[in-house]
Amino acid sequence: MAVAAAKKTNGKPGPKHNIEAVRQAYYERIAKHDMTPLWKVMNSIVTKEPVSRCAPVVWHFDDVKSLVMESGSLISAEEAKRRVLILENPALRGESRATNTLFAGIQMILPGEVAPAHRHAAAAIRFVLDGEGAYTAVEGEKAFMSPGDFVITANWAPHDHGNPSKKPMLWLDVLDVPAVNFFETSFAENFDEPMQETSRQDGDSLSFYGSGVLPDGTPAMNRTPIINYTYARTRPIVERMMAAGDIDKRHGARVRYANPVTGGPVLPTMGAWLAMLPRGFKGETYRSTDGAIFVCVEGQGSTNVDGKVLQWGPNDVFVVPPWKRYSHTAPKESVLFSISDRPAQEALGIWREGK
Ligand SMILES: [Fe+2]
Repeated sequence: MAVAAAKKTNGKPGPKHNIEAVRQAYYERIAKHDMTPLWKVMNSIVTKEPVSRCAPVVWHFDDVKSLVMESGSLISAEEAKRRVLILENPALRGESRATNTLFAGIQMILPGEVAPAHRHAAAAIRFVLDGEGAYTAVEGEKAFMSPGDFVITANWAPHDHGNPSKKPMLWLDVLDVPAVNFFETSFAENFDEPMQETSRQDGDSLSFYGSGVLPDGTPAMNRTPIINYTYARTRPIVERMMAAGDIDKRHGARVRYANPVTGGPVLPTMGAWLAMLPRGFKGETYRSTDGAIFVCVEGQGSTNVDGKVLQWGPNDVFVVPPWKRYSHTAPKESVLFSISDRPAQEALGIWREGK
């Protein structure tokens, strides 16, 4: 009625302040019916390019290690269930995430400790930073871990950790928890027994599935059957690629960790890469819609993210937000591990890359 009244002046809208007041009254009326006009929000929900809330950030291992070690005297792994310090993106504080879709944390297990068995809908990867001889048991395989190893815990896979060694072990946990919670599909379960029965030997899955042969009848699944992609196996491959001159101008000599049955990503929600950057590398600029978490495994360098320079050295963890232009520089030969939600975006048909 009010809109009709405003249009009565010779068939034209009335003075601007009149129509604004009429519109405002209309918005207030429709709000009572839980409705709102698209034209007021269109530009913020359908942006011309990705707009990320996430900030570029680096966590230096010297700080991280001493702070995580301190937690060892405050709480046991058993009491905490998982003794983890979350790496929270400074632009997303209070949200338990490093990027919009990925959780990251540093987990520590002291000698003799056990982190009890459980499972959850969120998938996890571990990237080992420091220590030797602690294990992750996943689906009946007890994988002993060394620095640079990349361990997979798929969605709903039972897992527990223990450290029979004499040294603390620290690793980076990355989970798709924010993505799972976006869909409101979180389930979790604790087991009565703190440790799983293990039926397979350490390294069985890498040997069975990662050797160019497959146990006959292996079904294709949307996640890898390999539990631990050891650094001892993967590093020589990127080294060999570099020697062969197979060096991407943006990423260095880089491999993608693959599901050996399908050639697809290791997990449907997360993909991972290992890259060797030659000494003196000055990478070309790159951007893509998947925000990534990087770990410097060896060497030293920096990554320029949209003008912000992140300096990194061994075991430093850094974040490149979605669609931000970045380039790596490495004065020393360096190795970078990275993980992102690219497989999820590709499955949905929304992943893009550019310069
Ligand atoms: Fe877990």
